[in-house]
Amino acid sequence: MIYLDNNATTRIHPEVREAMEPWLSPEGYGNPSAGYRFGKRAREAVETAREEVAALVDAEPEEIVFTGCGTESNNTALLSAVQCHPERRIVVTSAAEHSATEQPCAFLESTGYDVRRNPVDSRGNLDLDALREAVVPGQTAVLSLIWANNETGVLSPVAEAAAIAREAGALFHTDAVQAIGKIPVSVRGAGIAMLSMSGHKLHAPKGVGALYVSRHARFQPLLLGGGQEGGRRSGTENVAGIVGFGAAARLMRKALDGDRIANLRALRDRFEAGVLAAVEEVEVNGDRENRLANTSNLYFPGIDGEGLLILLDEAGVCCSPGSACGSGSVKPSRVIKAMGFSTERARSSVRFSVSEFNTIAEIDEAVEAIRAAAGKLRIVMPKNLGRVISRR
Ligand SMILES: Cc1ncc(COP(=O)(O)O)c(C=O)c1O
Repeated sequence: MIYLDNNATTRIHPEVREAMEPWLSPEGYGNPSAGYRFGKRAREAVETAREEVAALVDAEPEEIVFTGCGTESNNTALLSAVQCHPERRIVVTSAAEHSATEQPCAFLESTGYDVRRNPVDSRGNLDLDALREAVVPGQTAVLSLIWANNETGVLSPVAEAAAIAREAGALFHTDAVQAIGKIPVSVRGAGIAMLSMSGHKLHAPKGVGALYVSRHARFQPLLLGGGQEGGRRSGTENVAGIVGFGAAARLMRKALDGDRIANLRALRDRFEAGVLAAVEEVEVNGDRENRLANTSNLYFPGIDGEGLLILLDEAGVCCSPGSACGSGSVKPSRVIKAMGFSTERARSSVRFSVSEFNTIAEIDEAVEAIRAAAGKLRIVMPKNLGRVISRR
């Protein structure tokens, strides 16, 4: 199998797994809230992991709240922001968010909030002038922006957006689920009130996330109960998952200093150049400079993306038709459409995302598989006929 879907989820790093094992064993299953030593050991492991996750984003450990996933972090951030400022009725976000932001925003809209989805241009870059107009001082509860887009990898102007929020007195939240570990992220002095993370995107297991909450920000928890996480997220901690997240954060932080990102870029660029040369008319979706080093979102004119995915699956290549966090839905990508493109382009686009576990040989094999699959699909579905069929 050639796994090119690392924005959907990643392989657990062997060192992460090793770090987790004691906490899944008879020696380590204690409840971190318990008063005896068996529990206290688990508490210490959680607190060490908190330090490691905090260090990855340059925060203080007490500003890190462990959650169950990135989706929970985003929901918590948005709902907290509006509850802390009930008199403010505007929520500003972008038109290219992950559903873990878009859906809570749609929910708020259904309860009467004025949700403003800021446009992006054809390369996926945010329109900052429109953003300045949308964020009304005194009336905006929160500005929430995805830091790195999960489908195209395009990066948001986080510093500028945080400044706009600050001037308007609005909270700034960023969904950094795809950004952490792939670009340097620092909350220090950045005007970020809350920042969402998820373990399984950086070689930790699924089912663990975190929310950075600035100690200067007001906060209202989503989950109420036993008062874990300093009362900010009740529920017995997923100790093994949290330890795994901590280990992954440590590895990623070290790797940011090394040549991991350059290696990811080299793999992605080789892949992209290979496909552009092998299949006629292919275009890159999203800004080719201002994006994550590991992501390549490609438009295959006249080729049905779902069909391509099936043939590539048969050839052992895993990739994604846009956001894979849904439940196998075949809806055209909202993000590609937000960039002003047709449903046909959205349906004919496929996302490939590499990790450090990919090899050059795999990249070359994947390019060959794409060449073969695209050739077959274009014979079955001549270009113009394909366009008509896939538009339905
Ligand atoms: C940008 C972004 N935000 C949020 C999420 C949701 O994270 P989780 O799967 O941990 O709920 C994802 C997952 O794909 C994502 O890519």
